[in-house]
Amino acid sequence: MKFICLTLLIISGITDSRSEQYKVVGPRDPVFAAAGEDVILPCSVKPNISVVDMRVEWFRLNLEDSQVHLYDDHVDKYIDQSEPYRGRTELNHQELQRGNASLKLSSVRVSDEGLYKCFIQSKYQYDDTTVNVNVEVVGRPPVISVDGFDHSGGLHLQCGSEGWYPKPDLEWLNSEGVSLSSETTETHRNEDGFSVKHTITVHHRDDKIHCRVKLRHHVLETQIITTKLSQLQNEHSRLQKEHSELQDKHRRVQNEHSQLQDEHTQLQNEQSRLQDEKRTIQHEFSVERDQLSECLKTVLPKVNVSLDADTAHPQLIVSRDGKEVRSEMTQTKGVDGSKNRFDKYLGVVGKDGFSSRCFYYEVQVKGQTQWYLGVARESVKRKDLISLSPEKGYWIVGLRYGKYQARDSSVYSLSLNVNPQRVGVFVDYEKGLVCFYDVKSMSHIYSYTDQCFNEKLYPFVSLGYERNENSTPLIICDD
Ligand SMILES: *[C@@H]1O[C@H](CO)[C@@H](O)[C@H](O)[C@H]1NC(C)=O
Ligand SMILES: *[C@@H]1O[C@H](CO)[C@@H](O)[C@H](O)[C@H]1NC(C)=O
Ligand SMILES: *[C@@H]1O[C@H](CO)[C@@H](O)[C@H](O)[C@H]1NC(C)=O
Repeated sequence: MKFICLTLLIISGITDSRSEQYKVVGPRDPVFAAAGEDVILPCSVKPNISVVDMRVEWFRLNLEDSQVHLYDDHVDKYIDQSEPYRGRTELNHQELQRGNASLKLSSVRVSDEGLYKCFIQSKYQYDDTTVNVNVEVVGRPPVISVDGFDHSGGLHLQCGSEGWYPKPDLEWLNSEGVSLSSETTETHRNEDGFSVKHTITVHHRDDKIHCRVKLRHHVLETQIITTKLSQLQNEHSRLQKEHSELQDKHRRVQNEHSQLQDEHTQLQNEQSRLQDEKRTIQHEFSVERDQLSECLKTVLPKVNVSLDADTAHPQLIVSRDGKEVRSEMTQTKGVDGSKNRFDKYLGVVGKDGFSSRCFYYEVQVKGQTQWYLGVARESVKRKDLISLSPEKGYWIVGLRYGKYQARDSSVYSLSLNVNPQRVGVFVDYEKGLVCFYDVKSMSHIYSYTDQCFNEKLYPFVSLGYERNENSTPLIICDD
């Protein structure tokens, strides 16, 4: 009985085990998963018997602590599930009845890439299959940039794209879709994935150049219209030409500028020199003008000048009223030689002197060829040859040898526009001014300025020195 039972058990066991004979099958090819999306990792048993009562376990190969999903005792068990897969795995329990133990993995990450084991165990046997998961990350659209132009007119282009996984392929295509070979290629890997960068130089004028980045069935493409670029290039070379022309021009202008600056400096020097000169002249002019206007604006009544015959040189004849004097060539009879007379100059002074304010008188010199006139200090020396200068107490103008003269420290020749017929003498005692002018033309002859008078001043007229054959008188004008 015991034997029978055992036999039955064995038979039924054999029958059982035969009825449960199965193989676990997975996909032949790798499974491609796009990052961020969901993916099904296929796994099923053949024949398609129910695996509801079995243990289904998914785990990563070659990784420790790598349980991905566990179904056992009719429930999903998450106790030992690896952290990165928390909440992202799902077995369809209905599908389990049909022998389908495919795992749904959501929000795929790059780190999910690798080999997975699908392990299915019944009471009597177990089997597994391996699923190869490849994760893809589609990067950003490629960007073409123009790097410039070379001397032969080639157009340098650069195309780059970032954020791919795994490394994508990049290629250049012309407008007919023919692949063009890149000049340089660069690939970088960082947390963001792979970035690629290729350069090319385009010589013929293709309408369009494409840059295509491809990762299996993912393709992103950008194109550039090179006709516009060739216009750009023409523009560019035109601008370059203009630029260098402008640079030349700039240099020329700079040279001219510095020349002009030099000239300018010279002119400025010249100008300041001229300004100095002008100031000097203006100053002189204003002094003269002031003196003249001083003289001319003064319309003073003439003082009543009478010549003092007692001071006259013995050869002079002074009229009875003291208004005229002339040269006689011979000594006048009855002249008292003891008096303080002039004995070399044919001079005579007025009877009255002045020691304040202003005074003015006029002398007619018309027809006379030698004369001096002006004022003299009371204490002047009348004898001998003396200098008729301010230093010696004389302020005069005169005519001798056809030349008009005044005297400072030396004889000072005057160039006059007129030959004075009547000379006005103006004295401002306080200001120290003695001023001569031609009465008829009202023009200035000469001025002594800033003189210091500390004695009485007397009108002084003279018919020259020692001899005068011209008997024309000098006449004091009262009219
Ligand atoms: C297996 O189950 C999954 C869902 O978990 C389903 O998407 C897939 O189509 C099933 N496979 C077959 C062969 O029916
Ligand atoms: C198993 O597959 C066969 C055909 O291969 C099909 O007829 C049968 O319905 C399937 N059984 C289940 C439970 O899906
Ligand atoms: C000028 O003075 C003299 C005497 O010195 C005198 O005879 C004469 O009348 C005076 N003339 C006038 C205009 O005052």
